[in-house]
Formats: sequence, structure tokens, C-alpha cells
Amino acid sequence: MNTRTTRTLAAGLSLTAALAISGCSSDGGDSGGKPKLSISGAYMPQPVNDQMAGAFMVVKNDSKTADKLTGVTSPLSDDLQIHETKDQKMQQVQSLEVPANGELRLERGGNHVMFMGLKSTPKVGDKVTVELRFEKADPVKVELDVKERTYNAHTDGNAH
Ligand code: CU
Repeated sequence: MNTRTTRTLAAGLSLTAALAISGCSSDGGDSGGKPKLSISGAYMPQPVNDQMAGAFMVVKNDSKTADKLTGVTSPLSDDLQIHETKDQKMQQVQSLEVPANGELRLERGGNHVMFMGLKSTPKVGDKVTVELRFEKADPVKVELDVKERTYNAHTDGNAH
């Protein structure tokens, strides 16, 4: 009777320990954890007026977990959209894939973030803060450098 109680207790304890370990690695661990995202080359071509502006950047994913860009906010506008370009026409989408061990490129003529209506019109040299929201990763704050209208980070294909 006595030894049996002890064994049951021991089994119960090791089960608790196993649960604690797996619970721990699921938030922030290397495997099955949140994707590790980094943003580079974020810019906004100087807007022509206060009606709209585009934002471009590269979102790099250095993890085995794919993620999705699901939304963008900014103090500069109450309406930011995620656009893709199909047949030279842009259209709003709900999200864009950030592939595992890959990158999501937001660039002219392709996928981009679009400000619909601006509270002010930024000039070259200004910085515009945006917050990117992802399905899995934590939100990321990014500063967009406002560049000349003709600026294109990827024209020479050798930016990195
Ligand atoms: Cu657009």
C-alpha cells in the first residue's frame, strides 16, 4: 500500500515536469516558437500630396516558422492597407506570406503597404513610423526613411 502510493506520486510529478518543459519551449524557443523577423531597407517615396503614399521594405524570416503580415498601423494615417499588384493593377489583400527561411519583399511594382489619406505630407529626410503586425511574431515598429520620388532600393539588384 505504502510503496504503491509513492510510485503514483512519482509518476504524477514527472508528468508535471514534462508539461512544464514543453510549455516553456513553446513561447520563444528555437523550434516551433515565434518566427524571428528582421526588417531592412524601409522607405517611403515622398508623397505627391496628402492622398496616398506607398511603403517598401524587406521582411526577412530567419526561422523555420512561416508567418504572415496581417496589418500595418501608423500615426500618419488611420487607413493603411496591404496591396499586391496583379496585371499592373493593385488590389487590397488581407495578408502577405513571410516564408520560413525566406523573405517578403515589398517593392515598387509588387507587394506594398499603402497609406490611404495622410495627416500631413512628409518630405525627403523625414521619418515615418509604422507598426507591422504579424500572425505569429510580435508587432514590429519600423522607421521609414522618406526618399526622393524616384528612389528605388532594388534597381541595381545589388543593394545588400
Ligand atoms: Cu497600393
